[in-house]
Amino acid sequence: MNILAISGSLRAASTNTSLLRAAATLAPSGVTITIYDGLDDLPHFSPERDVEPAPDSVSRLRTQLRQADAVMICTPEYIHGMPGVLKNMLDWLASSGEFVYKPVSVISAGPSASGGSRAHALLFHTLEVLTAHLPEGASLIVPSVKMRLNGHGEITDPVLAQELKSVIDSLVNAVQASPAIG
Ligand SMILES: Cc1cc2nc3c(=O)[nH]c(=O)nc-3n(C[C@H](O)[C@H](O)[C@H](O)COP(=O)(O)O)c2cc1C
Repeated sequence: MNILAISGSLRAASTNTSLLRAAATLAPSGVTITIYDGLDDLPHFSPERDVEPAPDSVSRLRTQLRQADAVMICTPEYIHGMPGVLKNMLDWLASSGEFVYKPVSVISAGPSASGGSRAHALLFHTLEVLTAHLPEGASLIVPSVKMRLNGHGEITDPVLAQELKSVIDSLVNAVQASPAIG
């Protein structure tokens, strides 16, 4: 089973990307979590650019999503919303439909007590509009994230590691329970 993990942060030292890297090490056997590294390459979305052939970076994204059994998105909150780069990516997928019925895990993480809950809610809603499958138990808000990772971006809080494992399990169960949709 292949899960594509997308971080909403472009920062090299991103805590959100660190959580996805940690998730990759927590995945059960038979489940591969691959970090998407093309967010920074996507052009600004415009309906006039959304024609065939799509820009290479957009084609690559769409292919990777089509080949993924499920998706994990982990994002920080910027100005009470999701980062523009993440929303830009979702705009490229509105017409092509890769998220339709796709099991998606929505995670937000931030240094504050809210853990990016407003970005989480907005991302969740956008994915609902794209008719993604948002399985129960596959959602997570991670407050105080900087206190729960070490300097190498590894999880030091066993509660967080357990929560992340549980998110992955819920996502995997959702894939196993859903009919194959090509
Ligand atoms: C432009 C900008 C806006 C931000 N706005 C918020 C915000 O509205 N709420 C919040 O909790 N944190 C906010 N933050 C703090 C980020 O959540 C924090 O920097 C986070 O660690 C970034 O995630 P990363 O480590 O994955 O890059 C903002 C940061 C930036 C750079």
